[in-house]
Amino acid sequence: MIASLLCLGILKPVDALVSPDGTGRLPAMGWNSWNEYACDISEDVFVRVADLMVDLGLKDLGYQYVNIDDCWGVKGTTRDNVTQRIIPNPVKFPGGIRHVADEMHARGLKLGIYGDAGTQTCGGYPGSLGYEEVDAAAWSEWGVDYLKYDNCNIPQEWVDVPYMYPDNGGSPDGDVPPGYDWSASNSSARYNRMRDALLTQNRTIQYSLCIWGHANVAAWGNATGHSWRMYSDIYPAWAGARQGSQALMPILNQAAFYWNVSGFWGRNDWDMLEVGNGDLTLEENRSHFALWAALKSPLIIGTKLDAIRPEILAVLKAGEIIAFNQDPVYGAGAVPYRWDRVGNDTHPADYWAGSSSRGVHAFLLNTEEEERDTELVFAEIPGLQEQQPAVRPGPYLVHDMWTGEDIGVFSDSVVLRVKRHDTAAVRVTTADGQHPSPQWLLR
Ligand SMILES: *[C@@H]1O[C@H](CO)[C@@H](O)[C@H](O)[C@H]1NC(C)=O
Ligand SMILES: *[C@@H]1O[C@H](CO)[C@@H](O)[C@H](O)[C@H]1NC(C)=O
Ligand SMILES: *[C@@H]1O[C@H](CO)[C@@H](O)[C@H](O)[C@H]1NC(C)=O
Ligand SMILES: *[C@@H]1O[C@H](CO)[C@@H](O)[C@H](O)[C@H]1NC(C)=O
Ligand SMILES: *[C@@H]1O[C@H](CO)[C@@H](O)[C@H](O)[C@H]1NC(C)=O
Ligand SMILES: *[C@@H]1O[C@H](CO)[C@@H](O)[C@H](O)[C@H]1NC(C)=O
Ligand SMILES: *[C@@H]1O[C@H](CO)[C@@H](O)[C@H](O)[C@H]1NC(C)=O
Repeated sequence: MIASLLCLGILKPVDALVSPDGTGRLPAMGWNSWNEYACDISEDVFVRVADLMVDLGLKDLGYQYVNIDDCWGVKGTTRDNVTQRIIPNPVKFPGGIRHVADEMHARGLKLGIYGDAGTQTCGGYPGSLGYEEVDAAAWSEWGVDYLKYDNCNIPQEWVDVPYMYPDNGGSPDGDVPPGYDWSASNSSARYNRMRDALLTQNRTIQYSLCIWGHANVAAWGNATGHSWRMYSDIYPAWAGARQGSQALMPILNQAAFYWNVSGFWGRNDWDMLEVGNGDLTLEENRSHFALWAALKSPLIIGTKLDAIRPEILAVLKAGEIIAFNQDPVYGAGAVPYRWDRVGNDTHPADYWAGSSSRGVHAFLLNTEEEERDTELVFAEIPGLQEQQPAVRPGPYLVHDMWTGEDIGVFSDSVVLRVKRHDTAAVRVTTADGQHPSPQWLLR
């Protein structure tokens, strides 16, 4: 139905991603196997995770997708020689992908799968370039609900001229004429082919582009998918880079320049959560979660749920932080303020503010190596400045989104003590609980 309207030209492609059931309107929430299992996956892993998502109360908080990442096929480019379909690894998935989807659906969850817009996936399994229709039809028939579509092994005839990637500071290779239209790039074409194949299926499949910010995807991702990866892979460390992956602070620094791109139906994806992994401190775990939620990045858990530590589970279940990410009325993510737009991979933007149905929110990150006092000055928050329409005057009630407790009522500012690498997350309303700036970021 959506597809036939598209053919008649009634819907623009960008609107085709607006599904009647609301899929893709809000940032996706779920779990993905890559960060902790890599290729060591099986049907049992996903069924066990699904049970834990229900038992641990994660499903009730909105985590719904259980996503298979790379390595589910048969290595190489082998496809079924009759149907041309990718063959699920019979040892890892003896009942096929459809059986895993059935198991997820029986628990009220959804299943995600992984593909690649090149000849092979990053791990060397069959890619979908040239097989978009075949693969989309298979996934749809198997009951898949979400596709993460990666960007490895691009053949020469599909390479972008010029080429743009953010990992080198965003400098495109080659001459880029002023006003260059990245939506006409070969990368955009590769991802649009899969979009069109998904839209012809009789099934709504959320479309997550894993294109690492290449080809200036921020300019065309919203016409192509529901979310688009904006930078290199994440790894579980506070600062630095490792083998082409980026730690939390460089990613946050990149995000500060693109805050205005995310909105309903289309999100910057700052990569899956590392909460619970590596050697982050508890405060670093908290900052990671709060800031990814504030950016309205998809919230895809990437840690083992078996024997998950209670303090880590508590971070992933912080209900008021999740509610900001999933707000049904305000689509925009938080805005960096008190920031000079210079960019710093160890000390990125640390004052962020946004709006939700419940009020104005501030996320105050301490990038320093010691605990410090951070001052939340109401007049500095973009939404509470006088030029904003319909700002209700203070004093304001400040509420702690982590603990769910009110901190107090203040006229001009409040000083918050923030531990090393922690993030204070507060909600600001009028003293009687009204939204102080209902028009702000209402889009
Ligand atoms: C198709 O593949 C199967 C097993 O992978 C093989 O036994 C068979 O010979 C192939 N058929 C053709 C026509 O290549
Ligand atoms: C797409 O790839 C072809 C073949 O390599 C190349 O000639 C063309 O310039 C590329 N187009 C763009 C817009 O980068
Ligand atoms: C599409 O799916 C719906 C619901 O499963 C079904 O009722 C309908 O017949 C299907 N349409 C086609 C053309 O397969
Ligand atoms: C985001 O901000 C940049 C820089 O100010 C601007 O060029 C761009 O048009 C904005 N994008 C949107 C979607 O508002
Ligand atoms: C993305 O596309 C959707 C659907 O057309 C639209 O509602 C939304 O405003 C767009 N987002 C941005 C940031 O332009
Ligand atoms: C925070 O998570 C890391 C994994 O990122 C874990 O090793 C660490 O123990 C956690 N911190 C605490 C205090 O639980
Ligand atoms: C980043 O900010 C810190 C703290 O202000 C400063 O010491 C450091 O020199 C900055 N780094 C760069 C590359 O500007």
